[in-house]
Amino acid sequence: MPGAKPGMTEPDMSNPRKVHVKSFGCQMNVYDSHRMADALAPAGYVETAQIADADLVILNTCNIREKAVDKVYSEIGRVREFKEAAASQGREMLIAVAGCVAQAEGEEITRRASAVDLVVGSQNYHRLPGMIARLRNGGKIVDTEFPVEDKFDALAQPSRTAIAKRGVTSFVTVQEGCDKFCTFCVVPYTRGAEISRPVKKIVADVEKLAEAGVREITLIGQNVNAYHGEGADGRPATLSVLLHRLSDVPGIVRLRYTTSHPLDMKDDLIEAHRDLPALMPYVHLPVQSGSDRILAAMNRRHTRRHYLDAIARLRTARGDLVFSSDFIVGFPGETEQDFRDTLSLVEEVGYGGAYSFSYSPRPGTPAADMENQVPAAESHERLLRLQALITQQWQAFNASSVGRTVDVLLEKPGRVTGQLVGKTPYLQTVQVMARPELIGKVLPVAITGTGTNTLFGEFAGQPHAPELASAGA
Ligand code: SAH
Ligand code: SF4
Ligand code: F3S
Repeated sequence: MPGAKPGMTEPDMSNPRKVHVKSFGCQMNVYDSHRMADALAPAGYVETAQIADADLVILNTCNIREKAVDKVYSEIGRVREFKEAAASQGREMLIAVAGCVAQAEGEEITRRASAVDLVVGSQNYHRLPGMIARLRNGGKIVDTEFPVEDKFDALAQPSRTAIAKRGVTSFVTVQEGCDKFCTFCVVPYTRGAEISRPVKKIVADVEKLAEAGVREITLIGQNVNAYHGEGADGRPATLSVLLHRLSDVPGIVRLRYTTSHPLDMKDDLIEAHRDLPALMPYVHLPVQSGSDRILAAMNRRHTRRHYLDAIARLRTARGDLVFSSDFIVGFPGETEQDFRDTLSLVEEVGYGGAYSFSYSPRPGTPAADMENQVPAAESHERLLRLQALITQQWQAFNASSVGRTVDVLLEKPGRVTGQLVGKTPYLQTVQVMARPELIGKVLPVAITGTGTNTLFGEFAGQPHAPELASAGA
């Protein structure tokens, strides 16, 4: 088999092994899960949604908050029961722990949870097929080194069927790792130093996705707007240059990027929002806190003013931009006044949605050792107040869509027969009655109402809209 690693058994495609991959983290974690499944496909593994059927279960973990880590250990306990049931039927089930907890805790995981056979760090999963083959001889493997080779080069490409199964939207990692070292955050330790992939390789990935039917690409990176991959002229290209290049790929009609850092919101990226119709007018720009004192203690390296200026510059470039953000409440030393500064910043910006979290001390990060940790009850009370405000803004934003006609990318069948589910440019979910052939099309939809997490709509111009007659062809 071309590209087979030494020691790898020839796959038996008539009786494939089954792998179940479960993601616990961010978009990059989800993307990595797909790439792990892709890496294992040439070794004869097909994906299964059922743990009970699996020969290999991969838990792709997240280390960002304590809760995320707790979840992993309780899930290992649950999978162990399936493993024991399989063993009682004479069948082997391997358990692998991958991702950011694997990277941070390494061998500790196999010590704490003896059912785990393999621990694979976030930079090593291209080596999975070789590791699995070695495991057949028994024992345990822990591989969390940062390798010298580029995992993206070594990874198997997804097959056309794998892409088609994953739908018309796709993530693509363009930048990974972080050099910013916010004092609360584990990412610089679990993902390593910032690296950017070359433009040429990203374009090749996106072309392949587009050929298989993908219409929307979200470029992902921990600090995606710090992107500086090698461009066509051999010099570093910015995210704006990359977005311009990708907007030329036939079939790609929508582009997004996440997560960006306010410090890296450079002029040319702001201009891309003005100049590129394919670049969706919804920007996730985390700020964490509205208090300068707390921003400094977090080592965010920008002020409230700097953040609000970035928002204003973006809005000047494109008037219909809507923002989302991440917030942490109860960071060490946060007073009621600091928290009110966060509330006032939320009022000032007016978000289309946002994520908010209680600060969770992470071992090895500077903030975990700071004095003045905020009591959990106080942090929780602030979180509820912030979430109430964010929910109110989100609902107001959704309500403001009613009566408007918006472009919707139709993504998949809905729960009701004859219904499709799609997304607006602002990532709002829309349900609309439509034929399945329209999946992958962007069509104008008149928004008629709102549900809890969704908007309802009808095709604008129905029932005789000419674009509908031709769109499915
Ligand atoms: N690179 C992105 C964020 C990555 S982590 C950025 O710079 O904004 C995603 C979010 O998790 C962060 O924005 C932050 O809000 C939250 N987060 C990170 N560490 C946390 C911690 N220790 N406790 C609570 N929330 C945390
Ligand atoms: Fe974490 Fe800060 Fe880096 Fe974001 S910028 S990944 S919050 S250290
Ligand atoms: Fe979690 Fe790692 Fe993503 S810690 S948020 S899975 S980068």
